[in-house]
Amino acid sequence: MSDTNRKPFYVTTPIYYVNAAPHLGTAYCTILCDVQARFRRAMGEDVKFLTGLDEHGEKVQLAAEDHNMTPQEWCDSLAPAFHDIWKTLEISNDDFIRTTEPRQVAAVQHLWNRMKDAGYIYKDSYDGWYCVHEETYYTETQVAKSDEEHGVEGQHLCPECQRELQRVKEESWFFKLSEFQDRLLALYDEHPDFVMPAFRMNEVRTFVESGLRDISVSRTSFDWGIPVPFDDKHVTYVWFDALLNYATAVGFGDPAMADEYARRWPAQYHVVGKDIIRFHCVIWPAMLMAIGEPLPEHVFAHGFLMVKNEETGQGEKMSKSRGNAIAPQDVIDLLGVEGYRYYFMTDCVPGEDGAISYNRMEQVYNADLANSWGNLVSRSLNMSAKYFDGKTPELPEGWASRANPLRDIADGLAERYAECMGVFDFVGAKDAVMELVHAANHYIEDSAPWTVAKDPARAGELEQIITNLLESIRICAHLFAPFMPQTSVEVLRRMSLETEADCTDLLAACQWGGLAGGVPATKGNALFPRLGGKK
Ligand code: MSP
Repeated sequence: MSDTNRKPFYVTTPIYYVNAAPHLGTAYCTILCDVQARFRRAMGEDVKFLTGLDEHGEKVQLAAEDHNMTPQEWCDSLAPAFHDIWKTLEISNDDFIRTTEPRQVAAVQHLWNRMKDAGYIYKDSYDGWYCVHEETYYTETQVAKSDEEHGVEGQHLCPECQRELQRVKEESWFFKLSEFQDRLLALYDEHPDFVMPAFRMNEVRTFVESGLRDISVSRTSFDWGIPVPFDDKHVTYVWFDALLNYATAVGFGDPAMADEYARRWPAQYHVVGKDIIRFHCVIWPAMLMAIGEPLPEHVFAHGFLMVKNEETGQGEKMSKSRGNAIAPQDVIDLLGVEGYRYYFMTDCVPGEDGAISYNRMEQVYNADLANSWGNLVSRSLNMSAKYFDGKTPELPEGWASRANPLRDIADGLAERYAECMGVFDFVGAKDAVMELVHAANHYIEDSAPWTVAKDPARAGELEQIITNLLESIRICAHLFAPFMPQTSVEVLRRMSLETEADCTDLLAACQWGGLAGGVPATKGNALFPRLGGKK
């Protein structure tokens, strides 16, 4: 099907600050988007999946100075770590944006001109608090509250990260955010799923109802940013620049990309962490409203990954100083890449905070992957190869329409799964697939193919049993593919169905009856060797 006939689907991750190495949290968000993107491709949608790096701002400038590099050299030295980890984690992004690229500079300057023409910016002076680490301004009220909570004599600490705040006093351009309160509230009323999950919407609404202030969107006290086109002493505030990346990547402001922009914008999903929803659900839509551009359909806010303290059972924020930080590579070493993806996507409810631990990782891996999914594949293919001379059985006459317990579960399974997947209910989607996996493992026990195989009079029955098992596996391989792409390709390959791996009609592919009969069947190595011992 040509691209124009397919439904466009555009999903984005936040663009990550380049100064910290990719960690479990950033990887979590990126894999959430990857699973969604892979699912949509399998559904035949025309997907664009964007990730990238947020490279401007005072934080980057200061870090570069500390390392005796220019900010650009500093960013260039760190960017490869992101490319490498995304490749390792099988991230299938179609584009990777860096805010220092010419396309972003041009788009941001276009934004400034549009804002000015629309009358939503003005010059004034800013006198207030700023946290360089968070790249965020704080009001006197927020600072007073933080002082009360974290109180250190003679210091004002950031409400978010508790680092010392800077007093900033400088000339600045302001964006008239205060004029958008009513329009934002109307947006939330008319599109209750603009912010997902629903409980996050309440948080956003309460914030907007409490009143909005104009925000400072340019800086003069350092120069690592995109120059304001009509006022070259000023560089763009890093968030005003960063948020626009989503539109830049599909051609905002670029006449040569007008068709692409018309087709791709607005995005269907911005996936972000709960700490940055105000930027995405308040400032970003207001910026777009100001220049008359369409608004993204959904902002999906995920929770934080917390490390479970095995003694207290409580989740704690990961930090180097607590000594509980887990690096992606440590988890890859334990679970493999596919086990890693499966664990984070199906055991941490997207939207809520997740308490992770090595014990739990091992438990989930062993129970779901080694003992259930991996075991089902290896037992079934082993029996097929053994009883049918290295092949899948010749398909029994009329088998696909014959009722059996596995077919009963498989019917409508892909539809149920797709409903969950489309709204990031990955736990629900996994549970649906696991129903078939567990049922198939029980079916092996109940039908005891090894006994049937000894009785030549029951040969037809044996064919039917193994066919039902392989067909269930084929369907599960399709449904697990967004989570564990390589494993699914391998499972299909072992059934001589590798050409099915690039499926673009998932619901049709998951109809009962697609198995190939009499083709080579390979047992292969264990897909998920059991993990022993605690780490
Ligand atoms: N550069 C901004 C985003 C600009 S988007 C226009 C930024 N970058 S960040 O690198 O600090 O954070 C990126 C994302 O990582 C955020 O969505 C944040 O929620 C997420 N995480 C950081 N720590 C996390 C966990 N411990 N768990 C899950 N995600 C967390 O903010």
